[in-house]
Amino acid sequence: MMKLTPVRKQYLDIKRQYPDAILFFRLGDFYETFDRDAEITSKELDIVLTSRNVAKGSRIPMAGIPYHAAENYLMRLIEKGYHVAICEQVGDGPVEGLFPREVVRVVTPGTVLEAGLLPGDANNYLAAVVLDRNTVGVAYADVSTGEFATTQIESHDPASAMRQELHRLAPAEILYPETLSMGDSLSGHLTALSEWHFAADSTEEDLKVHLSVSHLEGYGLEGLPLAVRAAGAIIHYLKDTQSAALTSLTSLSIYSIADFMVLDAATRRNLELTETIRTRQVDGSLLGVLDGTVSPMGRRTLRRWVNQPLVDRARIHSRLAHVRAHFENGLQRSALRNELKQLPDLERITNRAAAGVATPRDLDALRHALKAIPGLKGRLADEPLAELGDRLDPCRELLEELEAALVDAPPPTLNRIGIIKTGYSDELDAVLQASRGARDWIADLEAQERERTGIGSLKVGYNKVFGYYIEVTKANAERVPDTYIRKQTLINAERYITPEMKEYESQVLSAEQEIRRLEKALFAALCRKVGGSASRLLESARTLGELDAYAGLAETAASRGWVQPEVVEGQVLEIRDGRHPVVENFTSRFVPNDAVFEQGERIRVITGPNMSGKSTYLRQVALIVLMAQIGSFVPARSARIGLADRIFSRIGAQDEIHAGQSTFMVEMLETANLLHNATNRSLLILDEIGRGTSTYDGLSIAWAIVEFIHSHPRLRARALVATHYNELTRLAESLPGVRNYNVAVSEERGKVVFLHKIVPGGADKSYGIHVAGLAGLPRGVIQRAQELLLELEERGGGDHGSASSQLPLFAGKHPILDDLEALSVDELTPLEALNLLYEWQRRLTKTD
Ligand SMILES: Nc1ncnc2c1ncn2[C@@H]1O[C@H](COP(=O)(O)OP(=O)(O)O)[C@@H](O)[C@H]1O
Ligand SMILES: [Mg+2]
Repeated sequence: MMKLTPVRKQYLDIKRQYPDAILFFRLGDFYETFDRDAEITSKELDIVLTSRNVAKGSRIPMAGIPYHAAENYLMRLIEKGYHVAICEQVGDGPVEGLFPREVVRVVTPGTVLEAGLLPGDANNYLAAVVLDRNTVGVAYADVSTGEFATTQIESHDPASAMRQELHRLAPAEILYPETLSMGDSLSGHLTALSEWHFAADSTEEDLKVHLSVSHLEGYGLEGLPLAVRAAGAIIHYLKDTQSAALTSLTSLSIYSIADFMVLDAATRRNLELTETIRTRQVDGSLLGVLDGTVSPMGRRTLRRWVNQPLVDRARIHSRLAHVRAHFENGLQRSALRNELKQLPDLERITNRAAAGVATPRDLDALRHALKAIPGLKGRLADEPLAELGDRLDPCRELLEELEAALVDAPPPTLNRIGIIKTGYSDELDAVLQASRGARDWIADLEAQERERTGIGSLKVGYNKVFGYYIEVTKANAERVPDTYIRKQTLINAERYITPEMKEYESQVLSAEQEIRRLEKALFAALCRKVGGSASRLLESARTLGELDAYAGLAETAASRGWVQPEVVEGQVLEIRDGRHPVVENFTSRFVPNDAVFEQGERIRVITGPNMSGKSTYLRQVALIVLMAQIGSFVPARSARIGLADRIFSRIGAQDEIHAGQSTFMVEMLETANLLHNATNRSLLILDEIGRGTSTYDGLSIAWAIVEFIHSHPRLRARALVATHYNELTRLAESLPGVRNYNVAVSEERGKVVFLHKIVPGGADKSYGIHVAGLAGLPRGVIQRAQELLLELEERGGGDHGSASSQLPLFAGKHPILDDLEALSVDELTPLEALNLLYEWQRRLTKTD
């Protein structure tokens, strides 16, 4: 057996405990990685792979990063989904020649605390899930803000209920039992854990200990075993990775998905709530338009709101009242927003302090925030804002402590001295006092020696190798006194020391070391005091987030001419002169449209040519309902909206959206989900359903779906249906809740103009050929198409005229069958037969 070096042995002992993480092993000023970790690190971070001797004649791969630049490298590994265990030197010095070392935390995508590693405008959630036969437990925590919540969902399809909730949360990391199959469409990094991490007994115990309670009933967790298991798994995982972060999770809230509008992943994507389909950027999404916030806390709050519109009228009214109050008072609003803009990220600073990783600048920023709070409270004296004012806590004692302790402009890191004010600690003051003579002596040395020697260019400098030295140019070297001892010769200068100087130097250096030690300890104590006030600080931070979100919504509403919606119970839908909140910004002449459902109307079928504005209209109605339930004003002249428990938006398959999958299959899967889960309080948006298959299939499916939505006792839901199948307008003949609308088109002297106006009645023409003309297809093609259309219409085949409101849908035989019947096969050449087959196939599969 080889004789390993002691450090190597220590490394292997530690690495054995963290087999799944990359181990950052602190050696002096570097974090070193070894073996396979080194290969990964060097490849992923593009740094040099070297090697190191670990025993006589044995070298292993090694890659190191300087510890002061570690944050950036760490971020890149975390982003790629790696876990990193950070192993530090601990204790005051080597024991038998070897520094004691231990892992202080394991950083994973869901447990990041460093400001530089976090998205400023969104939460960084760590989620955990467990699944039973008909039940799902989902818990999530944000260790950077202290949010911690859990829920249990009953569902006949628990796997998709789980996915739906995970899509809403968009966590950075998801913990799940290794036996569970998670698929690959979820956005967060997946961390599989063995089953025992989710065991009922141990998770309950972990939770109780963490929350310091003997029973979980107080938290409303009785009868919610899966909610307990998911939340307990998070606690256990954090204990293993970042026990310091646990201190920020001071409470646990139980939520019910019934508190929020249900929005599945397809609907979130179609409606472009927080990112656009094409670029996946916030810009151009609903959030992009709504977001008028000025602080990171406000931005995160608004994003949460957009992701979970409310279904409780009282809560919606309360939000709207807040927005209205800010909306009505523009001067006050702008003053308030100015103050909010200056605030630091109070939520995350508090948690960094509580976890012991805050910097002096962090606490300085915290001090600024606390100073601003009394002024903000003063602005919130009147109802309904007073409720928020009451929740803001200036934490006076803590502020006084920070004022007394921290210098006015502290250095960025703890490696520099000069953090703590004089007068705060007797012990520190004594060291400063005792060393003052020596420190002043060194500080004055340059001036004194210049005068004594008459060498004007004489300099006093410092470096790590020699400590303090006196530098004199070669030209002046003749004039130095005998007491100078030469230490080093440079090209143009000589460096000297004097015995007296070295005397003072050692005093100064040991004093500085002592000052640094004391300041670090005082600073750590200060952080603990912040930690002690964490729950009050976090409550203030959340309140500031809400305040900013309200004021931001008011700002957006005021600058865009939006109005306050009225939210009521029932199937009401009365939007007058509604606009699409995003599209209206991209066109100078956006045409407003009503969506006023008359008595008895439930389903509106909208026909109209391509590019006339059907999809825009459907989405605008859905978005206005959603915005109202977020608590936002809406782009309309007026809006009265019956609460929707969920919005479903389905769009006929489009290849750009579902690249690489069977488009029609995806479309039908999504529609099946809708038909199983919608209720009569839902709002359904069906845009060109059935487009992904052949005309007859597509039309029949669309027809049957609308019938089902209209008449199934559980559904009878409000729906808007856009279609290019004019036949669907016949549904209105047999179904009393269906009304036909179309997009107005003006035709003057053969020129077609789309007016983008939704008017009653079905479209009588599809204008597809006109659109083809507009697009510049050759004249000959357009003329030939017109001839064919006429011919088809006369024959009563194709898309026009033959649909009946009675099933079967298509009376009589298909025209191709007539052709086939009339054909004398013997007279065909093989080529003619082949051409006919091609032609029939073309006619059968053409979709528009
Ligand atoms: N109400 C409107 N006012 C002005 N322009 C509109 C309006 N609705 C749609 N448009 C314009 O027409 C284009 C096509 O709209 P879209 O809704 O996709 O049509 P369709 O679904 O009928 O094919 C949009 O990109 C937009 O520029
Ligand atoms: Mg469309």
